[in-house]
Amino acid sequence: ALRASFAPRAQKANQNFQYSLQPQAAFKVAVLGAAGGIGQSLALLIKMSPLVSSLNLYDIENVKGVAADLSHCNTPSQVQDFTGASELGNSLKGVNVVVIPAGVPRKPGMTRDDLFNINAGIVRDLVTAVADNCPDAFIHIISNPVNSTVPIAAEILKQKGVYDPKKLFGVSTLDVVRANTFVAQKKNLKLIDVDVPVVGGHAGITILPLLSKTKPSVSFTDGEIHELTVRIQNAGTEVVEAKAGAGSATLSMAYAAARFVESSLRALDGDGDVYECSYVQSDLTELPFFASRVKLGRNGIEALIPSDLQGLTEYEQKSLEALKPELKVSIEKGVTFAQKQT
Ligand code: NAD
Ligand code: LMR
Repeated sequence: ALRASFAPRAQKANQNFQYSLQPQAAFKVAVLGAAGGIGQSLALLIKMSPLVSSLNLYDIENVKGVAADLSHCNTPSQVQDFTGASELGNSLKGVNVVVIPAGVPRKPGMTRDDLFNINAGIVRDLVTAVADNCPDAFIHIISNPVNSTVPIAAEILKQKGVYDPKKLFGVSTLDVVRANTFVAQKKNLKLIDVDVPVVGGHAGITILPLLSKTKPSVSFTDGEIHELTVRIQNAGTEVVEAKAGAGSATLSMAYAAARFVESSLRALDGDGDVYECSYVQSDLTELPFFASRVKLGRNGIEALIPSDLQGLTEYEQKSLEALKPELKVSIEKGVTFAQKQT
């Protein structure tokens, strides 16, 4: 069987995540923006999961062919396509996990915040439909700028009277995936063993890898810490520049998003040992949204894990204080946008 190797915390997902004709659970997953660069690869990875019985693919265009193609894979889930606003509601009925990678990606020279004007409205409309059709679902927001789109989603859900902060997630898994890869390369460690918590947000200096909390315990020089931190913070831009106008990370993002979906499904299925980093409503700092490790369970977030933020090094503590003003502005920008919609 072909196996995808997720990171250590997802080891159980690895065991499940293989070609299989035998469904092990019957969860429904919807991908909104499924014909895009992330959407297509993510749909393929979700199609490989034996925990999924229905995979609903929604986009404003080009999704029919993607679904026809994917539906020929002999894995348990049934694939259905939904095109355009008139079919959006049906794509969401009875869904357990909604993943949202819809929206425009960066080109060289742009910040993630430069995507706000287009993507804020897309996320608003899609989350409105989620509120109307599957308000109990776990919602995974990938569309950038995540630091603002998650607060937008929260406000929309509040306006609809269905906000459950335990079920709204900004997908920051790619930051963890990158941190694990770069640390393992730098220190010659076995990839499967390495786990670095990444906290804060998902843009530039708001991405804060806590290298002192790396498992297994590793010692870094000050130079290594600075070099690795900056590389992890700029990894998205590294890909945007390499793609030279053709978009941003799609394959590594799909891999990371599939890991987060698989973790969510395992939690929904009753696994009591599921932890992931995610950008969520939080009281770990004075900011209302903050990425940290969270424990996932059947009802969403069971606990935020505060211990990662305790005993930080001076470098990490300073970086944490430095990211707060930028993250605060991005959160407030999202909240203000959503509140103007009423
Ligand atoms: P893409 O342009 O390849 O695909 C986007 C898809 O969204 C397209 O198929 C498009 O038709 C669809 N779309 C546009 N408006 C829509 C709407 N209203 N409803 C449904 N679908 C709609 O872009 P991509 O490379 O897949 O990136 C998508 C988003 O993900 C971007 O905003 C990008 O910045 C973000 N992203 C986030 C992370 C992260 O770590 N969270 C990583 C990579 C990319
Ligand atoms: C990433 O981190 O790769 C994404 O947020 C896409 C981007 O614009 O960098």
